[in-house]
Amino acid sequence: MRVSAAVLTLLALATCDSGSEERGDVSSTRVVQRPFDPAPAGSVPRGAAERAAALAPPGPAVTPALIERGRERFRIYCSPCHGVTGGGDGPVVSRGFPAPPSYFEDRLREAPAEHIVQVITNGLGRMSPYADRVTPEDRWAIAHYVKELQARDTQGSGAVQ
Ligand code: HEC
Repeated sequence: MRVSAAVLTLLALATCDSGSEERGDVSSTRVVQRPFDPAPAGSVPRGAAERAAALAPPGPAVTPALIERGRERFRIYCSPCHGVTGGGDGPVVSRGFPAPPSYFEDRLREAPAEHIVQVITNGLGRMSPYADRVTPEDRWAIAHYVKELQARDTQGSGAVQ
């Protein structure tokens, strides 16, 4: 009984590892060239709807915690060029990178938080997008922090931290 079970097991293994043509077809060393299949009409990349919803205004509720999160993220991702005060004079600019506009220009003071979210998502001119590093929620947090910076500094001196 024991022996026949062992024989059966061996036979089963031998059948599995027969080196059949199917096995050859999935070999990782073989390049399988398939024609390019266009995505069916109306299909959207996975997660796109959630991302679009997270980016749609008005965004998350503006709370002190959100602003604080925005301040922290802004210091990491934006201040190297925009400066900690938003004046457009960060250390990267002092090394020769084109200076961004000051956040205290009238046009940017008037821009809604949504515009800042858009710029982080898509980039603008010489500024590259930060969508791969800053989550949609954090984009809102940063945008509201920038609006807060602008609102607190009525003189446009960028003196408020
Ligand atoms: C590597 C430098 C750099 C970094 C980092 C950077 N920016 Fe910019 N930003 C720029 C430059 C340069 C411009 C001007 C782009 C242009 O008009 O060509 C700009 C423009 C802007 C503008 C003005 C848009 C307008 O309508 O004129 C906003 C708002 C902005 N950035 C927000 C941000 C935020 C928020 C972050 C952080 C997530 C960030 N930037 C990170 C360089 C940078």
